[in-house]
Amino acid sequence: MLRPPRRLFPPNRAAATGTGTGLDRRLLLSTPIFYANGPPHIGHLYSALLADALHRYRGLRGAGPGRLSTGTDEHGLKIQQAAAAAGTSPPELCERISGLFRQTLTQAAVSFTEFTRTSQPRHQRAVRRFWGALRDAGALYKGSYEGWYCTPEESFLPESQLAESRDAQGRLCKVSAESGHQVHWTKEENYMFRLSAFRDPLREWLRDNPRAVSPEPFYQRVLLWLEEDLPDLSVSRERSRLPWGIPVPGDPTQTIYVWVDALVNYLSAVGYPEEHGGWWPAAHHVVGKDILRFHAVYWPALLMAAGLAPPQRVLVHSHWTVRGQKMSKSLGNVVDPVGCMGRYTVDGFRYFLLRQGVPERDCDYYHEKVVKVVNSELADALGGLLNRSTAPSINPSNTFPPFSQSCFPKVSDYRETGGRGRASAEDYELLVSVASLPLRVATYFEGFQIYKALECIALCVRQTNSFFQRHQPWKLNRQDPSEKLWLDTILHVTLECLRVYGTLLQPVVPHTADKLLSRLAVQPQERGLSGLVFLPRYHGEPCPFEGRGLGEDSGLLFHRLEKAKHQWVGSREL
Ligand code: ME8
Ligand code: MG
Repeated sequence: MLRPPRRLFPPNRAAATGTGTGLDRRLLLSTPIFYANGPPHIGHLYSALLADALHRYRGLRGAGPGRLSTGTDEHGLKIQQAAAAAGTSPPELCERISGLFRQTLTQAAVSFTEFTRTSQPRHQRAVRRFWGALRDAGALYKGSYEGWYCTPEESFLPESQLAESRDAQGRLCKVSAESGHQVHWTKEENYMFRLSAFRDPLREWLRDNPRAVSPEPFYQRVLLWLEEDLPDLSVSRERSRLPWGIPVPGDPTQTIYVWVDALVNYLSAVGYPEEHGGWWPAAHHVVGKDILRFHAVYWPALLMAAGLAPPQRVLVHSHWTVRGQKMSKSLGNVVDPVGCMGRYTVDGFRYFLLRQGVPERDCDYYHEKVVKVVNSELADALGGLLNRSTAPSINPSNTFPPFSQSCFPKVSDYRETGGRGRASAEDYELLVSVASLPLRVATYFEGFQIYKALECIALCVRQTNSFFQRHQPWKLNRQDPSEKLWLDTILHVTLECLRVYGTLLQPVVPHTADKLLSRLAVQPQERGLSGLVFLPRYHGEPCPFEGRGLGEDSGLLFHRLEKAKHQWVGSREL
């Protein structure tokens, strides 16, 4: 007879709701830990950039202590086979690939604070302790398990997730319907996790936390899964077949299932089992839709079984395709992020991925699109505006010019005086757009819609360019006192707009934003988001920048990218 789990619910129901109150507003943001079986591609980088932008955004808001975790997933059959195929040992392969991930993420300015390798003793200890907690709670039992195993996904798949295909020799075989990878019949004695007992607790968790899985379509997908069969989960493999992994404590004939091992990285990153208390469950996991089930079903269930609360949020994104095709090594169309950063610059590529990536749906990647977006929005619109509004010909004193309320009276005055100033209705619309921008951006970051935040900023930049163009300040005569007032006001408004854009763009294009803010002489302590006030002079408040000398002109903000004739993918020409 199977022993029923002793405890299904976390002891602390308040913590289980995941509000994170009383935690000093700490937050762990995480990327998945990536398999160390091959070098990083742009999909991996995209996950990391989303998490990085959220982490940087929180930091600029002064939202409380934050951590950003990433790393490599180094155990399991997939790695064992990859090492054998490469004629090397798993530790050697992992050392090399893990190094590549670390290097690539560092180069991409991903500001991770923890980099977990599942081969690290600290992590392995956490996994053994977690296993012990599951066992002590009665959530594990030994059973004979058989089923179709998909090694690339490191997962047993039910019949409902299988399809038929032909293997390399043309023989009929079974494949994963989702990934197309071949599955193999596996039968062995394993430890099983009582996942089936968690259907109701999981539903309750989702019902109480409608934002636990975002965006909404993924939340719905998880709810649907919970209406289907939820069989117990095999959580170990025979050690004779899978020596590359963490042995089951107390049973050296078994190896802990790589997904249990990998998921615990989120706890070991915050010091489980001793120090996680101050952080858990204030965690937001950024993951691709391919691993949604592991994060929104298995992980919360495992946590509850171990007496811990589910993570606060699982933030899900879709996939990048390349010219309409799924990116895969066998198709040879895997896009190398290091090559991309070389071609488009780090900020150019960060901007492209975060501006064009829409979590709800798959996005297509191709060279011409990167060049077009980056050139038009970063080089021409933003860079051009800075260039034109700070050019020595238009602003010879190289200072932040004064604002004149008589040229740009407050709206009420403007109406009363019948347009005494020189600003037009469209100029007032610009002010309204930019003044509301920080809040709109905040809402979009909070809602995991960074691409929408960037769209709003791009729209405002365009509006500011129109403002500049409309008034043709280069035609105004500085020697004429009344024209000078208006000229300075136009420049003041433009630079104020640029200051807001530079501040808001810091989480996405940190180098470019720094260059922009430095040119405007915005000091490091003036770059936060909490004190960001646009155009205080319009409201009759003092502006700390007015009259200040501008920063050094260090050249173009962003150089236009060349339109290459050929597209390179990895080391091959497409
Ligand atoms: O699944 N587009 O690792 P993995 C966007 N080790 N993102 C993509 C992508 C694409 N085409 N391809 C991959 C694993 N990703 C496990 C995770 S976590 C405890 C263990 C991103 O190397 C996306 O985030 O296969 C996806 O979920 C992840 O890389 C999978 O990386
Ligand atoms: Mg994968």
